[in-house]
Amino acid sequence: MSGMRAVTSSPAVATDQLIRYGGEFPDLLIETAAGSWLTTSDGRRILDFTSGQMCATLGHGHPAILEAMRDAGERVVHLFSCFLSRDVPELARELMAVLPEPLARAMFLSTGGEANEAALRLAKLHTGGYEVLAFAGSWHGMTAGAASSTYSAGRRGYGPPLPGTMALPTPNAYRCPIAHCRDRCDLACLDAGMALADSQSVGAPAAVIAEPILSAGGIVPLPEGYMARLREHCDERGMLLILDEAQTALGRVGAMFAFERHGVVPDVVTLSKTLGGGLPLSATVTTDAVENDAVDKGFLHFTSHVSDPLPAAVGRAVLRTVLADELPRRALELGARLRAGLEELQRRHEPIGDVRGEGLMLGVDLVSDRDTRAPAERFGTGVTERCIELGLNVNIVRFPGLGSVLRIAPPLTIAPEEIDLGLEILDRALREAGPRQ
Ligand SMILES: Cc1ncc(COP(=O)(O)O)c(C=O)c1O
Repeated sequence: MSGMRAVTSSPAVATDQLIRYGGEFPDLLIETAAGSWLTTSDGRRILDFTSGQMCATLGHGHPAILEAMRDAGERVVHLFSCFLSRDVPELARELMAVLPEPLARAMFLSTGGEANEAALRLAKLHTGGYEVLAFAGSWHGMTAGAASSTYSAGRRGYGPPLPGTMALPTPNAYRCPIAHCRDRCDLACLDAGMALADSQSVGAPAAVIAEPILSAGGIVPLPEGYMARLREHCDERGMLLILDEAQTALGRVGAMFAFERHGVVPDVVTLSKTLGGGLPLSATVTTDAVENDAVDKGFLHFTSHVSDPLPAAVGRAVLRTVLADELPRRALELGARLRAGLEELQRRHEPIGDVRGEGLMLGVDLVSDRDTRAPAERFGTGVTERCIELGLNVNIVRFPGLGSVLRIAPPLTIAPEEIDLGLEILDRALREAGPRQ
C-alpha cells in the first residue's frame, strides 16, 4: 500500500479526490433517474428541468434507449475505427431523411466539442482558410478548436487560442451588444461585427460557427432575418456556415431543427447532446460538395469512438421516438404552457426582466432593476439553490455581459402537470431566494 492514500470513508458526497472541473460539486448524490425525475441517495425527488446536461430530451431511462443499448450490447459495442456496423449508415440515412438537401453526408463522434472540431477542420480544408467567427456569447466545446470559438467562458489562462478566431456580437435584443437597439434587433450588430472581422482578416476566411439559439450565452434566439443575412455574409466571403444544433435539434424548439424556421440551410450542421438522448453521440453533417473536396484533399479525422455501433443504435432509437411520438409538436404545446406560466410569474416577480426562447428551451433573465436591466447575479444563484432544496433542478448561466439567466429545458416527454409543479416550485423559490441583487 505504500504511496497509496487511504480511501476516506464516505460522507454523503466525498469529493476530495475529484478534480473540480466546474467549481464545487453540489452536496447531493443522485441514485436513480427516471422520466423527468431524479432521486437522491437520501430519497429526495428532484424534477429535472435541464434534461441532464440538456441531452435527455426523451427523459431519463426511456425504454427505447434502454432497449437499443441492450440489443447493441449483445451484438457489437465498439469496433476498429474503419469498420462499420449496420447502425452507422442506417443512422446517416435516417438523419438525411429529416435534413434538407444539400446536406448529404454524416460522420458520428462522441461529444459536441468533437463534432464542432470536425466541422471546423472540414471548413478549413475545404476553403483553405483558417479564420473562424463565433458569437461573443458562444459555447462550442472544450477541445482546442471548439474552445477557441467559445467566448462565453473559459478563455483566460490557457494560452493562445487558435489563430484566426474572432468574435461576433451576440444579437441579444434585451441586452444589445452595441447599445443600439432595445428589444428589437435590426441586425446592425451583425453588419458591424462582419465589418470589424473584415478589418482584422488576413484574407483567410473559413467559417462562421453559430448556435441558432445561444444557450450558455443566455438563451438568445437569433432574431428574425439574422440567419439569412449571416448566410449572405458567409457567401460573400467564401466562408462556410456551420450551425451548432447541440441543444436545439430533434424537437426541443418545436421543430426537428432550429434552422428550419429561418429558411436557411447551413453548409455544415453539428448535432450532439440531444442525438444520444444522454449517451455520448454526436454528428457532423455536410454536403457532398464539401465532403468530396475535403476527401480529395486528404481529410483525416479518426477518434477511438468514431462510428461506434452502440451509440449509433441509440441515436436511431432517439430519432425514431422523436418522430413517432411527435416530440416537436409536443415541445411546441408544452413550451406554450411553460412560457405562459413563466410570463405569469414575470407579472408577479419584479426580478424577471425577460422571458425568451422557443419550444421547451426557455430563458428567464433575472435583473436587479427592470429599467437598467442590471443582472441579478447573486439572486439568480439563490433561486437555483432554493429550487434544488424544494425539488427542482434549474440551471443558471451568468457570464460577464450576458446576464443572469435561468435555463429551462425539461424533457420533451414531461407531463403537463409536471410543468405546472415546476412553475409552482419556481414561484416559491423566487419568493424565498433572498435579497434581489
Ligand atoms: C451549443 C453547444 N455546442 C457544443 C457543446 C459542447 O458539447 P460537449 O460538451 O458534448 O462537448 C455544448 C455544451 O454545452 C453546447 O451547448
